[in-house]
Amino acid sequence: MYIFHKSEALKAYLDEQKAAGNSSGFVPTMGALHQGHLSLIRQARTENGIAVCSIFVNPTQFNDPQDLAKYPRTIEADIALLIEAGCDALFLPEVDEVYPDGQQLKEPYDLGYVETVLEGAFRPGHFQGVAQVVERLLLLTAPDRLYLGQKDYQQCMVLKRLIELKQLPVTLHIVPTSREADGLAMSSRNRRLTEPQRALAGLLYQCLVSIQVKKNLQPFAIVQKECREILEKKGFRPDYIQLADADTLELLEEYDANRPVVALIAAFIGDIRLIDNLIL
Ligand code: PAJ
Repeated sequence: MYIFHKSEALKAYLDEQKAAGNSSGFVPTMGALHQGHLSLIRQARTENGIAVCSIFVNPTQFNDPQDLAKYPRTIEADIALLIEAGCDALFLPEVDEVYPDGQQLKEPYDLGYVETVLEGAFRPGHFQGVAQVVERLLLLTAPDRLYLGQKDYQQCMVLKRLIELKQLPVTLHIVPTSREADGLAMSSRNRRLTEPQRALAGLLYQCLVSIQVKKNLQPFAIVQKECREILEKKGFRPDYIQLADADTLELLEEYDANRPVVALIAAFIGDIRLIDNLIL
């Protein structure tokens, strides 16, 4: 696997691959890699001539400086995992390489409704930072296909909007969520969970499953209240337990058999914030 710290060297490699007729699939990450990330790499590898991954802990998407400071960094292990997964090239830039003109956005992105709700409401500015870094990374890597995880459902929708807005020549591929045996969605943040917290964390997925199972059997408000009570009793602090239209993210008060619906959940356990979702 090639490792590039500088965009110029990366570009030379990518130009060479393109000239040789190799399509490229790109997987942006913030590192602390797990099997969820690797499933994206493997899919990119299968569907393209080369799989390109970036590891960059993007400062502009952290609304909480503590969260940025505590973000896990495990680069040696990450490199070994990427090699094992068959990744062809890793882009590992410093902040100045990604933002040579500074981190300040000249103009906010018009991301519309999708950035105003759920994560957007609880993490102001977060999706502007995500759009900023992904646009930059897409310009630097010019991939044919972009691979994102369904785990970050709203992020997928925001980046779909970015691609349309900026007419970026890339197709978006959304990869299903990889889970631990107890259903917990894999996440870099999971390594910060203490043992007792980890033992409880599968409850988030159990809530999503109960929302799915009780679909059209009970009013959603009742299921939502039950989930909130169970989580709070175990020491979680839920930010939201919500239904939304899976295409538009319009928030729904009730199950709706006439359209695709996604259930989304976000909760703190200690100072670690976990998110998950399930299409019903
Ligand atoms: P990060 O959290 O490192 O995730 C990188 C990619 O892996 C994202 O597309 C995310 O949805 C996907 N992913 C994470 N956990 C997953 C799981 N359990 N199953 C499947 N896919 C999973 O998301 C980011 O980084 C950043 O916001 C980024 C897009 C890189 C911009 O900085």
